[in-house]
Amino acid sequence: MDINRLLQNLTREEKIALVSGSDQWHTAPIPRLGIPAIMMSDGPHGLRKQEMTGDNMGLGDSVPATCFPTAATSANSWDVELLSAMGRAIAAEARHTGVSVVLGPGVNIKRSPLCGRNFEYFSEDPYLTGELAAAWIKGLQSQGVGACIKHFAANNQEKWRMLNDSLVDERALREIYLAAFEKAVKEAEPWTIMGAYNKVNGTYACENKTLLEGILRSEWGFQGAVISDWGAVNDPALSVKAGLDLEMPASHGVSAAKLRADLSTGRLTEAALNKCVRRVLELVSRSTAGAAAEQPACDYEANHALARRIAAESAVLLKNKDGILPLKEGQKIAVLGEFARQPRYQGAGSSLVNPTKLETVVEELEKAQVEFSFAPGYALDSGEPQEELLAEACSLAQKADVAVVFVGLTPQYESEGYDRSHLNLPHNHNALIQRVAEVNPNVVVVLSAGAPVVMPWLDQVAAVLHTYLPGQAGGGAAVDLLFGRANPSGKLAETYPLRLEDSPTSEFFAYNRQQTEYRESIFVGYRYYDAAEKEVLFPFGYGLSYTQFTYDHLQLSSTRFLDTERLVVRCRVKNTGERSGAEIVQLYVAKLGSPLFRAPQELKGFAKVRLEPGEEQEVEFTLDRRSFAYYNVQLGDWHVEEGSYEIRIGASSRDIRLAETVYVESTQPAVPVPDYRAEAPSYYQLQEPDTRISQEDFAAVYGKPIPELQPVDRFDENSTLEDLQSTRLGRMVLKFTKDALRKELGVVGEADPKWLMTWRIMLEMPLRSVVALSGGRFSIQLVRGLIAWANGERGRALSWWLLKR
Ligand code: BGC
Repeated sequence: MDINRLLQNLTREEKIALVSGSDQWHTAPIPRLGIPAIMMSDGPHGLRKQEMTGDNMGLGDSVPATCFPTAATSANSWDVELLSAMGRAIAAEARHTGVSVVLGPGVNIKRSPLCGRNFEYFSEDPYLTGELAAAWIKGLQSQGVGACIKHFAANNQEKWRMLNDSLVDERALREIYLAAFEKAVKEAEPWTIMGAYNKVNGTYACENKTLLEGILRSEWGFQGAVISDWGAVNDPALSVKAGLDLEMPASHGVSAAKLRADLSTGRLTEAALNKCVRRVLELVSRSTAGAAAEQPACDYEANHALARRIAAESAVLLKNKDGILPLKEGQKIAVLGEFARQPRYQGAGSSLVNPTKLETVVEELEKAQVEFSFAPGYALDSGEPQEELLAEACSLAQKADVAVVFVGLTPQYESEGYDRSHLNLPHNHNALIQRVAEVNPNVVVVLSAGAPVVMPWLDQVAAVLHTYLPGQAGGGAAVDLLFGRANPSGKLAETYPLRLEDSPTSEFFAYNRQQTEYRESIFVGYRYYDAAEKEVLFPFGYGLSYTQFTYDHLQLSSTRFLDTERLVVRCRVKNTGERSGAEIVQLYVAKLGSPLFRAPQELKGFAKVRLEPGEEQEVEFTLDRRSFAYYNVQLGDWHVEEGSYEIRIGASSRDIRLAETVYVESTQPAVPVPDYRAEAPSYYQLQEPDTRISQEDFAAVYGKPIPELQPVDRFDENSTLEDLQSTRLGRMVLKFTKDALRKELGVVGEADPKWLMTWRIMLEMPLRSVVALSGGRFSIQLVRGLIAWANGERGRALSWWLLKR
């Protein structure tokens, strides 16, 4: 494609068309100039390719594709090779079905365990997230299919996700929320990135010049195209000026009209538009060149086998008293819990995959000719315990040597579009475990959930195997692990707190529609629990195996070095048990003493080592400047504090096996290290009971006053259907929408997860996005008339409805 020539020949109208989708999934074709449309599809753990029409909520049908373990699951493998293999496999399915860009991976940081979409994200740690995402992207793109890393940036809650302003201090932004994007962009060069729905520090992510032009393009050297999240564009001209290249999905003429008007008044220049057009053309050109142009055959059986391997490598063994697992031959086994028959294997929303097949534990056990008894123990459509189901399960458990209980979060709990409000399992799942444990001491719990839960029954059970959301081959993987055909090797990529109130964000998560103060700053996940010296249920990096490993011989290439040099760290790991297995060796860096508030330690390296019984291997890590650096706000850059650092090698963040101290000389020793002890003392006192970070402390770190909440006295295009409920017409519209939607979705009750998600998204969607997200079914005139009527401007409303149609 000769892009310069095309740019000269395109009319203004064609350019306007190119910066917006032509439908739900395609860019606009310009047949006159031979510019084809390219197709994008979700998502991060499998393809959700919809035919021409479609939706961004996972409601409509999509072509069958391999459902791999979700990111919260595959992250536990800490295995970059596996993530890369998943990327390659998804690319093969994309090419086979004519998809050019896959909308993934999702690399938002798990700020709170409550975020409804955590199952789609990797970790609370940016280093781990960045490494895994980069591997996935490289795998995908090696096959000529583009990735779309998302959601840029600070998109950490579902509630009010399309309007909320994430107030994040610069240091937390750089060190926690942007770091994974940065690593993936620099190392894997994704073809595209998706601008998030929310605002970041006062400006919509899709209009945020600092983020898109300043940080992403100028600082990190991003060369690809920026795509809006579906329906995220607020003011198209501001988006174009900020460097957002492609609005998705089609706005059905709404944005085109605005861009046309802004170009004619000079609010937007053609030069700014040209920049975006060029990047869209580059994307189309990349997509239609070489490998991506073909639609080769795809081996779905091989992809299913890969999904099973990843599921097995990602499960985490949390408890295994007296080696009750793996199960022994000849044991009488009771399999309890409906999940063994109807597995929970993925989350809901835009990442929902229509699997090519689905393994269940019950069928896999039958296939393996294992004798077992089965009882469902609970019903899936209710959270309330049912006595007959419990009694039936207990009677089987009583007669068995081991009771394997399959429980977890049902689909109502984890979805795009809304968050959880607590960390509990459904009552009937907890009740099943508790009742069975009363009649049989050998209870093995197999958990399926995409995020942390509390486990009030932990002391009463013998083992817990956490399979997370293992994808379509999770059934087989669970059987492989339970019977020792595979050895668990996953480790948690997030902390399990003892209780929700222990989470640093428990008071400041999705608490206000307008804005969210990220008060905890850099203290996210283990960074907080370590600083606060809080006990946790399971720490970051934790996971058991059927074998044991010892660590020794820690060696550093130097004990004093300059921050521009590299430090090579080596240690030896040995499998001292009787089974072959894999160990995830973790390297943490801890600054010893600092005027700055810092996390007590940060993950800066990891390696997965596979060892036969008795085998020993050397593991090597290379640390660079960034491994020791923090973001210095005054400098506007990364800076290394001069001084002593401890290099820690651990089997988890709280099981450090080896440590050595190094002295790092700074190339910028004169740069002042920010000391907030006077203005923001609470950040230094997290270990003291009842420390709360006040708004004053946060404001000091944020560096500017926290914006006042704005009274809303008029409705506008950023009002929501929920807001309109205060008007009579609004209530009528809501009722009509509700009835129509229910009929269309065929939902029965309000607890239907499909309904929970759709209705929440509907209620909280800004009115400006209604046209695009309804696929053009509602016109902008209708919406504007509604807003005018709600504001009491009847004449104006009628003119929108009657005259301007
Ligand atoms: C989600 C994105 C997704 C897009 C298209 C949005 O609602 O936030 O992650 O890629 O829809 O389905």
